[in-house]
Order: sequence, then structure tokens, then C-alpha cells
Amino acid sequence: KLQAVLFDLDGVITDTAKYHFTAWKQMAGRIGIEIDSDFNESLKGIERMQSLERILIHGQQEQKYSQAEKEGLAQEKNDEYVSLLANLTPEDTYPGIKELLQELQEKKVAAVIASASKNAPLILEALQLNTYFHSIVDPSGVPGKPKPDIFLKGAEQAGAKPSFCIGIEDSQAGIEAIKTAGMYAVGIGDDRILKPSGADIVYPSTEELTLQRLLAAAHMI
Ligand code: G6P
Ligand code: MG
Repeated sequence: KLQAVLFDLDGVITDTAKYHFTAWKQMAGRIGIEIDSDFNESLKGIERMQSLERILIHGQQEQKYSQAEKEGLAQEKNDEYVSLLANLTPEDTYPGIKELLQELQEKKVAAVIASASKNAPLILEALQLNTYFHSIVDPSGVPGKPKPDIFLKGAEQAGAKPSFCIGIEDSQAGIEAIKTAGMYAVGIGDDRILKPSGADIVYPSTEELTLQRLLAAAHMI
């Protein structure tokens, strides 16, 4: 019954969520805005310019910069982020992910990347996971999470019906997006954070992700 598994990237496939946080923290700090890990939860899954807007509002600087200056700030963050990605190797893939991808490939279930990140192709290449994915959703011009569009586009690309799809996410916005798309939502992380957003099940780590467990949890055996 399962037709496709839609994976978020940052914080699900690998620990790049921490690099996003580091890079935003650095840029924000430079303009006098402090961000802590609680506030960072509200940035996870959120597209780049949207994240910047949230940071500026958080620091009460939403009126301070022109559009061009904001683009400069976002560029500054991305440059720092990309430089942090330079050290990424296949060993940085989260535990259990490659095994799950192999199982999906064997069972001919499509694996799709449904991330808001424009750096997704670069990261998958560094992790050498490209061949396991049916496709990557191009997030440009698609409404961001918590809107369901990135997940719906992923399902469509794989020729899958949302009700026969499982989405895996570490962010509140992402879990909401999966549920609005009508899919089974698997959270990775803290259930006190992800359950209230609508996660159907939450695992503390990707180690727990086996195809058998997912199928049983989603009643898709
Ligand atoms: C993911 C991450 C966010 C990030 C967004 C855009 O959703 O969880 O933290 O802001 O992608 O990433 P990008 O690499 O395009 O700046
Ligand atoms: Mg994520």
C-alpha cells in the first residue's frame, strides 16, 4: 500500500539543522539580535527569506532594512552555511537512514526529498545518497512549510497518492505541512515539541526508522 516516503533533509537525513542554526546565530549576532535554541525551533523548515523575516521581527528590526539589504543578510547567512557544509561526508548521514533507503529501493517504494532548502542537491551529493532518491522537490516558487505544497509536489512527482505516503520531519512547520497534505507524519526529535504539531508518531532518533516499523505504525502493511 505504501507508495512513497517523503523525507525532509535538514535534521532528518543529516545534522545540517545545527549548521543552519550556527549560521543564523552568527548573522543575527552581527546585527545585534540574539537567537536561542527555543526560538530556533520556529525557524526549522522555514524557507531562507522567511527565516530572516522571523529573525528581524524577533529582534524588533523588521522596518530597518531595505529589500536589497535583506537579500544581503540572507546571502551572508548562506555563505557561512555553505562553508560549514564543506566538511560533510557520507559518514555524516544519520544512523539508519541509508539502511531505510536501501530497503525502500528493494521494495520499489519511491523516496523523495521534500525540503525547503535550495542547498539540498549539494548536500545529497556530499553524502553520496543521490541514487537512492526518485527525485528532489524544487522548492522555488512553491509555498513553503507549514503549507502542504512541497509534500504534495513530492507525491505527485512520484506518482503517489497522499494517503499512501509517509512524511518524515524534524520541524513543527514540516509536521503541519505533512498533515495538511493528508499523509502519515513521522516526527524525529522531541515528542513534546512535535506531537502538538500533529505528528502521528515521534521517534527520538533516525536509528528507529525501519520500513517494517513505519508500515506497522501507519497501518500500511
Ligand atoms: C530547511 C531548513 C531551514 C532552512 C531552509 C532553507 O527547511 O530546515 O532551516 O532555512 O531549509 O534552506 P536554504 O539552504 O535554502 O537556505
Ligand atoms: Mg528539517
